[in-house]
Amino acid sequence: MLSDLFIQELKYANNIEDVVSAYVNLKRRGKNLTGLCPFHSEKTPSFTVFPDGQSFYCFGCGAGGDVITFIKRAENLEYMEAVRFLAQRAGMQVPEDQTDDRAGRLKARVLELNRAAARHFYGNLMSSAGKYGLDYLLGRGLRIETIKHFGLGLAFESWDNLLSAMRQKGFTAEELDAANLAARGKNGRQYDQFRNRIIFPIIDVRGNVIAFGGRNLGEKGPKYLNSADTPVFKKSRNLFALNFAKNTKEEAFILGEGYMDVIAMHAAGFSNAVATLGTSLTAEQARLIAHYAKEVVIAYDSDGAGQTATRRAIEIFSQVGLPTRVLTVTGAKDPDEFIKKYGSARFKILLEKSANSTEYALNRLREQHNMSTADGRVAYLNAAAKYLAGFDNLIERDIYVSKLSEEAGVSRMALLETINNLAKKREKSEKRKQERDLKVEMFDPRDKINPQRAKYPKAALCEEKILSFLFSHPDHIRVVRQELNEDTFVTDFNRKVYKRTLEAFDQHKDLDIAYFGEDFTDEEMGRITRMFVGQSEMAYTLEDVRSYIAALKEQKGKVSYDDIKQMSPQQLQEYLMQRKK
Ligand code: UTP
Ligand code: MN
Repeated sequence: MLSDLFIQELKYANNIEDVVSAYVNLKRRGKNLTGLCPFHSEKTPSFTVFPDGQSFYCFGCGAGGDVITFIKRAENLEYMEAVRFLAQRAGMQVPEDQTDDRAGRLKARVLELNRAAARHFYGNLMSSAGKYGLDYLLGRGLRIETIKHFGLGLAFESWDNLLSAMRQKGFTAEELDAANLAARGKNGRQYDQFRNRIIFPIIDVRGNVIAFGGRNLGEKGPKYLNSADTPVFKKSRNLFALNFAKNTKEEAFILGEGYMDVIAMHAAGFSNAVATLGTSLTAEQARLIAHYAKEVVIAYDSDGAGQTATRRAIEIFSQVGLPTRVLTVTGAKDPDEFIKKYGSARFKILLEKSANSTEYALNRLREQHNMSTADGRVAYLNAAAKYLAGFDNLIERDIYVSKLSEEAGVSRMALLETINNLAKKREKSEKRKQERDLKVEMFDPRDKINPQRAKYPKAALCEEKILSFLFSHPDHIRVVRQELNEDTFVTDFNRKVYKRTLEAFDQHKDLDIAYFGEDFTDEEMGRITRMFVGQSEMAYTLEDVRSYIAALKEQKGKVSYDDIKQMSPQQLQEYLMQRKK
């Protein structure tokens, strides 16, 4: 266990405002700061930093906690890793008596295993038995130095070629499972996950091999297979070739659809290309790109699926605030094929004339309408107006209004008025939606953190107000606990928080959110933080709290009555016996 003193010093040295600022564009609002939440997609800021309490809370998604929770989530780290991360940031030494850091150790082992596996796959590819794999890659136009640069490899058509090699190196069954390099049959036996595939190691910005992609060389199974999420890998938070692209001098990143496209682009000199890992783009990946680039060029396949994915990606990048351009591959199905057919110079021209996202959208609308008839043109203008009404940036919108009015020969004023009306409508409906979301969020029957909350809303609210009060008036804990036994709590989650609060008090610990960080998950920390910050909005007195305690007791009585009604005769008898005692 780390000492409280150390954690306090660590937090003192890592001001939450400074730490969060590296991830979120924060604007001051009174005492607090707000910005767009890095943990879910949103257009209006509900992510709030409370410098007074050194905490954060997102009113949109419920993420919350202290600076350690923030780093855990933002960097995808375990508790101890987050502590080390912050210690390093502040130039502090972590005391060496370490806690039982099982999760951290497993992660380290999985990384070692992945590295050994990557070496093994590479060895296979370069061996004489693996010549067929190398021939496949050379046949697809890759040069040997590109193959080495990406550390490509080969998984033989075998059930245990990798597993037996790794077992010999001392890796355990548990580690092989954890790395997702082993699959298990019905009988529970482990076998190689990747078989008869070209292997693409996925390497993070720190140079760790975190996962693999595999291209099928045979007929059985999907064309590409990607590692599932593991303790060191989250598909939705990583990108292929980011380890190289992060060093680019270009201001833009290129986002390709797959491994082979990205490799072809790098080989042709475009080392700013990355790809997602067998899933469509996530907001986390978009944010990751925004972290390294000022702009992104989407270079997906030219087929229908590629175009649908392009529209989705544009939407996600726009939510993250990263300007987007779209490269249209003509005369080939994807960048890989294009470069092979026409060379890198022609590809560079494609890049340069790639349309920005607005041009792309307007072009698409134009394609969908018959511009040779008056009706078609009106329909196009209406669609374009609706699209432009969605712009938050009025200057940008104005530029396209001018262009559009010239192009269609209609007055700018008329077009603007249409757009303004549409924009007003949109705002109204967005506001209604927000209100709806808030109401649902209040007592969500699918609430995973406190599943009993929706069933017993009155009791849960009392509990939360009481906890909220205690967090800001720890001096009253003694009084409150005399009147309120933990058994009176109706919902288990809140009871657990109450219990831990009393324990903190007994151990003379500071009631700080940090105190809960080791026992509660990140999601639970969000809920606890909400109770912490709830208090700063409304000032309760001890008298108020007494009335909440009374109300809670009354609710508890009702709940018990409900329980009794549902008991079987036998349960009822046991219950009565106990009452007698
Ligand atoms: P493509 O099928 O377009 O891949 O899928 P590609 O790179 O052009 O493949 P080649 O050129 O035939 O080898 C694009 C990406 O989608 C994911 C992979 O990440 C792939 O790189 N994918 C595709 C899968 O995850 N599983 C599949 O079965 C197919
Ligand atoms: Mn493709």
